[in-house]
Amino acid sequence: MSDPLRQRYEELKAQIHYHNYRYHVLDAPLISDAEFDRLMAELRRIEAEHPEWVTPDSPTQRAGGLPLEKFEKVRHPAPILSLANAFNAEEVRAWFERIRKLDARVEHTAFVVEPKIDGLSVVLHYQDGMFVQGATRGDGEIGEDITPNLRTVRALPLRIPLSDAGDHPVPRRVVVRGEAFILIKDFEALNRKLEEAGERTYLNPRNTAAGSLRQLDPQITASRPITLLVYQIVAWEDEKLPPPATQWETLETLRAWGFPVTDIARRCQSLEEAIAYAESWARQRDRLPFEADGMVIKIDDLRLAAELGFVGKDPRGAIAFKFPAREVTTTLREIRVNVGRTGVLTPYAVLDPVEIGGVIVERATLHNFDYIAEKDIRPGDRVWVKRAGDVIPYVIGPVIEARRGDEKPYVPPAYCPVCHQPVEHFEGEVAWYCVNAACPAQLVRNLEHFVSRSAMDIAGLGIKIVEQLVEAGLVHDVADLYTLRKEDLLRLEGFAEKKAQNLLNAIQASKSRPLARLINALGIRGVGEVTAAELARHYPDLDALAKASVEELMQIEGIGPNTAQAIVDWFSRPRNQRVLEKLKAAGVWPRSEMAAPSATAALAGLTFVITGTLKNFTREEAKAFIEAHGGKVTDSVSRNTNYLVVGENPGSKLQKARQLGIPLLDEESLQRLIRERSG
Ligand code: IVH
Repeated sequence: MSDPLRQRYEELKAQIHYHNYRYHVLDAPLISDAEFDRLMAELRRIEAEHPEWVTPDSPTQRAGGLPLEKFEKVRHPAPILSLANAFNAEEVRAWFERIRKLDARVEHTAFVVEPKIDGLSVVLHYQDGMFVQGATRGDGEIGEDITPNLRTVRALPLRIPLSDAGDHPVPRRVVVRGEAFILIKDFEALNRKLEEAGERTYLNPRNTAAGSLRQLDPQITASRPITLLVYQIVAWEDEKLPPPATQWETLETLRAWGFPVTDIARRCQSLEEAIAYAESWARQRDRLPFEADGMVIKIDDLRLAAELGFVGKDPRGAIAFKFPAREVTTTLREIRVNVGRTGVLTPYAVLDPVEIGGVIVERATLHNFDYIAEKDIRPGDRVWVKRAGDVIPYVIGPVIEARRGDEKPYVPPAYCPVCHQPVEHFEGEVAWYCVNAACPAQLVRNLEHFVSRSAMDIAGLGIKIVEQLVEAGLVHDVADLYTLRKEDLLRLEGFAEKKAQNLLNAIQASKSRPLARLINALGIRGVGEVTAAELARHYPDLDALAKASVEELMQIEGIGPNTAQAIVDWFSRPRNQRVLEKLKAAGVWPRSEMAAPSATAALAGLTFVITGTLKNFTREEAKAFIEAHGGKVTDSVSRNTNYLVVGENPGSKLQKARQLGIPLLDEESLQRLIRERSG
């Protein structure tokens, strides 16, 4: 491999695989997203020049190809077994007694205890270290080929070993089994996003993960936050290498190869230790980041486990020690409706308080009005309620047999429960909205969002103060924050000189937030942090964005017809236009420096240093911006520096640059430089 470009290409692939692993498997990234994107962009450039170099293990091949017609069948190399259940420690001991009678060696065996993740079982084939096929469990003998979908799972290694695996060489062919699932935090975030966009929310992480992987369009899978943990080697083919002899070594080997492996597995020397460990997790199950329905206790010695054989599809060498169920029934007292920031009306259940796994539950989500109708959930019903991990409890459905006969079907409200204006429905969405922009419920939520950390980040302005401001009539829209006077604040309860001044300072400081944050802060339906950043990359300011058409907006990655329409609608409302005018008058009018089309090579070969506080950028953003245009950013000024980008209150770098005669740029001239150089 003498070609230096080829060498760079291989090096890049290895680097990207490694950083992907740091992020998605170890949860300990070493570089920023922008740096990662830059490596990917370079890889794509090389692949565009040399398509003949691209192999299936290239990081670019994850993206999700064309939709499939149907899933092909895959015969598993060995049966993909299930597990027998035990519901208490006595049943675990009874299992042990049974197998001890079959084989006396069980007496002195060790165990491995692992979480039993509630996801979708997957079977992954690697040939010469390359991921070549992935299947569902199916009936245990034959599964469905979901390879393109599994490629999109970032935690799944496309090539093993990832880096030097030391004492753990990879066999010629190996088939690994694991569980694909969605982390609870990712599930909640996904549902929040859907709710904001007025779309149907998902019922639970398990069904969402399974549904996402068993669907024909890999693009859709790619958009869902699926992750993976592996725990078994199903087949091992190699003339020279022997497979691991124990379950514990199996986990270590898989980990060394670069697979995600649970870090709460434990090797226990006795059955009682194994039971105690499993029970300790039963008590702390709310701390697990994923849904689990129990712990699996496995005989560590794999030869012994195999020799014990199975009963039906359940191997004798392992047992699932199930956690207590988290589904209970209680009475649905009432259905109430919450009004969200975007005006979305969300129904929720008020329940007779009931204990589920040590937590008293009085409220549960009902998802949306269609869900209530589909399940025919009626006020007064006895209902099943499920609480899993940290997922918000939800109503599964009514106990029809428990009906008395006087329960009436639920009728969704025709008027907003807070401002009593008529509610509206948009085509293609399941949600109902209160579209009254002056609705106090929305105003409070709007402000709450506007001032939040990911938006304008106004420190010290919590929900309490927001409510005070709205109630006192001091704030009628978000722009009113910028004309608050100290004497107004001093009239509010709990405000003294210092607190009022701090708040005014924080509001003042928020004026210089970059455009992306302001766009996010406006609370347009379907426009969150990511979309806002994308918009700020395409439009220099809100005036320009306000003029964008639906067609134009739909050209932007990640913006579909609904969001595009929502953006256009938002800017067309007179009330919002007044808010914009007020913001502009108050000097809250950031200009985007990222408006140039991304990834030009205008700055290639140039080295920049940044000093001082920039108007529209954080340091990281400025760096990413320069890098996106092919430039390099270093920390200190030297003779190799081509330009110094100077903001307010510059440091000693300015002096140094002057001494060396290095040209200075402000943000505008940086923009101009790019425009000129990109011709
Ligand atoms: S071991 C012989 N270990 O639970 C191997 N299964 O009811 C048998 N599962 O379909 C499976 N986490 O999808 C095993 N750490 C774990 C597991 C696990 C989740 C699932 C698996 C299986 C089901 C068995």
